[in-house]
Amino acid sequence: MEAAIERLAVAEAADMSRADIMNLLLAKGELQQGLFEMARQVRQEAGQADVVLRGVIEISNACHRSCDYCAMRGPNNELNRYTMTADQILKLAEKIKESGIGICFLQAGQNSWNDALIAEVIPVIKHEIGLDVMLCLGERRQEVYDKWVELGASAYILKFETSDATLFNKITHSQLDNRLQCLDRLRKAGMKFGTGNIVGIPGQSMESLVDDILLGLKIGPDFISTSPFIPNSNTPLEKFPKGSADMTLNTMAILRILLKNPLIPSVSALETVYPEGQTVGLNAGANVLTINFTPKNNQEMYKIYSEQRFVVSLDHALRAIERAGLKVRQGGH
Ligand code: 5AD
Repeated sequence: MEAAIERLAVAEAADMSRADIMNLLLAKGELQQGLFEMARQVRQEAGQADVVLRGVIEISNACHRSCDYCAMRGPNNELNRYTMTADQILKLAEKIKESGIGICFLQAGQNSWNDALIAEVIPVIKHEIGLDVMLCLGERRQEVYDKWVELGASAYILKFETSDATLFNKITHSQLDNRLQCLDRLRKAGMKFGTGNIVGIPGQSMESLVDDILLGLKIGPDFISTSPFIPNSNTPLEKFPKGSADMTLNTMAILRILLKNPLIPSVSALETVYPEGQTVGLNAGANVLTINFTPKNNQEMYKIYSEQRFVVSLDHALRAIERAGLKVRQGGH
């Protein structure tokens, strides 16, 4: 079985064995430890071992989509909606700056009502406060992405969620093709961009998880992330079980070994499925932690992972980094 890890390390996208990837996705015990060790080694050799810190501000939970896994979906009437003012956002960005973090990551549900607000704050955060601006705001037209770059944004996260077009359509009520086109638009706009999948979506097959890895490889993003599916109350998928922590970690390690360079976050959702989950994520090859700067009253309404959401503080992140025997990187997305 260890041979599967060795083969993976020298594999080219073209001749990689699906069976090897499948075996490693299911790795437990010694094989899993070997996989993580290889991922750490590849991270080290790629010069990617220092951990990047991002400061996230969740600027609005208003969303016009209706993704079945997310409690911020438009049809959820149980949720009070908020949108921060430009002033609030800029004050929080100042706090990120004061903490010594170099990246301000603005996140919101997908809605174009806030585009004017976003256009207002980007240049101030970039040019006056002096932080790199990263966005996670969903699908937009080329012109909008271009405009955000012109204003000073330099990175974007848009996950493909699943490579299975039928499943994507079923759970998001939209087309995977369109999502992938948006990734092309981001590339064209000149942004660094990230994508990734969710592990454990109800109805997802093992074969499609292998395809997720191959799709990540084909896209060749600057960042890639994997998170376990977390059931959210007041959603159509609320009764389904959580995604597998082991398979999430194994996906991260395989992506590290195959893609080598990208930034891979150890996501907060890992803390809800595994004790010290984010430290384990760093041990599996991740190199990004995102610290939450959203004020508590808004955090409670930003129900991306429902009640079980783990909110990452700077202290928690620094402890995880120390436990993993790593250090904080200066600068970089
Ligand atoms: N479980 C796992 N991941 C989720 N996301 C949103 N809701 C969930 C959930 N319930 C992830 C999706 C989305 C990103 C912003 O958060 O991948 O693209």
